[in-house]
Amino acid sequence: MVDVLVELCAGSAALTRWCSGGWKLVSYAGGKDGYAEIIADLMDLRRVERVLLAEPGIWHDVWVALTWGLSDRVADVVEQWQYEDARTLWDALRGGRGQHDHEWVRAARALVLVAGTHGGHERGGFKGLHVNRPSVDGFIPSRGSLAWRLREVPELPPIEVFKYAADVEPFAGACVYIDPPYKGRSGYDHALTRFEVIELAMAWKNAGARVVAVSEAAPLQFDDSWTTHELTAARRGQVRRNSRSAQEWLTVYKKT
Ligand SMILES: C[S@@+](CC[C@H](N)C(=O)[O-])C[C@H]1O[C@@H](n2cnc3c(N)ncnc32)[C@H](O)[C@@H]1O
Repeated sequence: MVDVLVELCAGSAALTRWCSGGWKLVSYAGGKDGYAEIIADLMDLRRVERVLLAEPGIWHDVWVALTWGLSDRVADVVEQWQYEDARTLWDALRGGRGQHDHEWVRAARALVLVAGTHGGHERGGFKGLHVNRPSVDGFIPSRGSLAWRLREVPELPPIEVFKYAADVEPFAGACVYIDPPYKGRSGYDHALTRFEVIELAMAWKNAGARVVAVSEAAPLQFDDSWTTHELTAARRGQVRRNSRSAQEWLTVYKKT
């Protein structure tokens, strides 16, 4: 049996990356790399043969380039930027993307900006030199490592990229993961209200989705057909330093 994964609020799409070999480019604020395995288990995800992603923010450009098979071209641009002064480059990229830039230049811009922005956010200041890691050149990973990671991106299942979660028409049999900006937190250029998140989840359930899972910093209140799971202790990798973001819950519906 194979699945179609729908990752709404995709950002860096940790679940899609986990399901396609567990590769990584840049850490993103709120990214679910540390929880992807447990989320996939709780969703009973099987082999993923097709993916639909929705993301209006900075990662949109990245996913467009990757799904068009342009990761080597993105790597070429990141490599060219390697020798620019870190701060000058970050300021220039933050200045805005060119309307006529190629897709691979837009993707390179997005990735280098996330790598160089404090907290891995879309907004925020320049990361700068690391207090305890003298080798950090203002970007984590460095531009050289990022280019190398881009060249190692594995073959991906067919991916369709959308902007907004509401742009994806719900369909039967889908495995849907929704990871919205958490209530009361900001830092992304786009937001969804709790009400919109619940409406979205219900629309997929009512359309006959096989599974719908929603991340939040608290269990969500639906009806009895949903179960809630605290994931906080199951996190893999680095512990989050910000205790406000330490709580992690998944609310799950499975079609019976
Ligand atoms: C918590 S982050 C998702 C992190 C993601 N799971 C990952 O592993 O990187 C929330 C994301 O929702 C996106 N978002 C905000 N409004 C949205 C909308 N209306 N439709 C789709 N995505 C949206 C934000 O741009 C942000 O990237």
